[in-house]
Amino acid sequence: MDSPPDLRFLVRPRAAGGGLRGRLRVPGDKSISHRAIMLGAIAEGETRIEGFLEGADALATLRAFRRLGVVIEGPDAGQVRVQGVGLRGLQAPDGPLDMGNSGTSMRLLTGLLAGQTFATTLTGDDSLSRRPMRRVTEPLGLMGADIESSATGTAPLHIHPVAGLTGINYPLPVASAQVKSSLLLAGLYAAGETCITEPAPTRDHTELMLAGFGYPVRRQGARVCVCGGGRLTAGRVQVPADISSAAFFLVGASIAPGSDLTLTGVGINPTRLGVINILRAMGADIAISGECTAAGEPVADLRVRAAPLKGIAIPVDQVPLAIDEFPALFIAAACAAGETVLTGAEELRVKESDRIAVMAAGLTALGIEAEPRPDGIRIVGGALGSGTIAAHGDHRIAMAFAMAGLRAAGPIEIHDCANVETSFPGFARLAAQAGLAIEESWV
Ligand code: S3P
Repeated sequence: MDSPPDLRFLVRPRAAGGGLRGRLRVPGDKSISHRAIMLGAIAEGETRIEGFLEGADALATLRAFRRLGVVIEGPDAGQVRVQGVGLRGLQAPDGPLDMGNSGTSMRLLTGLLAGQTFATTLTGDDSLSRRPMRRVTEPLGLMGADIESSATGTAPLHIHPVAGLTGINYPLPVASAQVKSSLLLAGLYAAGETCITEPAPTRDHTELMLAGFGYPVRRQGARVCVCGGGRLTAGRVQVPADISSAAFFLVGASIAPGSDLTLTGVGINPTRLGVINILRAMGADIAISGECTAAGEPVADLRVRAAPLKGIAIPVDQVPLAIDEFPALFIAAACAAGETVLTGAEELRVKESDRIAVMAAGLTALGIEAEPRPDGIRIVGGALGSGTIAAHGDHRIAMAFAMAGLRAAGPIEIHDCANVETSFPGFARLAAQAGLAIEESWV
């Protein structure tokens, strides 16, 4: 049998002094793009989205809502128009909804669909079909939802209609914005109030956007509450550039001598700033300027210049604020003087891949001492060699190792990179423009 086509990145070392330079804008924020479609769909009126991420994950959400009867025009150069159908206007789809590789689509949609009067089935690719879904199906069950999963609590998820949902008070066992958002979206359809208490702050885009659509959200410290039965009013959403995509360039420019790179219009919501806080603690030179607000979200330009990095013990409170940025941060750690230790990050084992195991294997293949631990990793900075890396279909692993090429002694070949498309279409082109010697090819 033929093996499926494999997108390979080949990254060659740069000439001395050839760092990342210039000004660039990375694509739109993935988390905000998903939410703009979801809330636009259940709002009353037309929502106009600008800067929408045209990556496979956000497109899976967009297509799902079309199948739920929502008229959506675009995307066209990041512009999308969603003709909202109101909280009760979604219609039964004509078959299962495929969420592809996207955990955010599956978990948030499960909450949003749990209180509908029709049945839905949500499916995903191999990676998504291995990821834990009980973290949403169990609390949704407490609200009265009827959701069937596999025996191990994974997709496909069959969501059956129920007479109604009831609000709950739920302390989140894991710091997860996806779970919080799923329950808040179900809460829009529930009788009474749904209150979620977080063990640590996580991204608050759902709360901010609900408020932006005129839906009352009550916040009290770590608790966030919504009452069911309100209405959302359509509006305009300007999606900032994704700090999680900017993260690869923040690391690349920090580790590559001679770099001076400005990333424009990046979302700097404090619940996403872990990557900047951690890199600065390691000695990175990152300047924030031109701060403004777009659709309730803070945005700024980030200028990053090469700087010598040092290893640190990563503060545990930064983990949820940098949860998607650890593959990139591990590359920074490999280029830092001394040891970097991450703890309290067991969640990394259930992302698009087991990011602790996959990063440790890749770093080891490049000659770096990397010791995986159940809840984190210990990385000793050193000289990166050349080697071959398996990205395991994980977009962020592929992009992180591409940046490692800026400091490696020889070429790095990265396999299984096609899913870079899920969050960062055009990554290789943009990185090449900034100065990374990267080629992509199907092999
Ligand atoms: C996301 C939340 C995070 C993050 C994911 C996007 C979101 O997941 O890893 O890429 O948009 O809510 P968890 O909340 O499960 O940690």
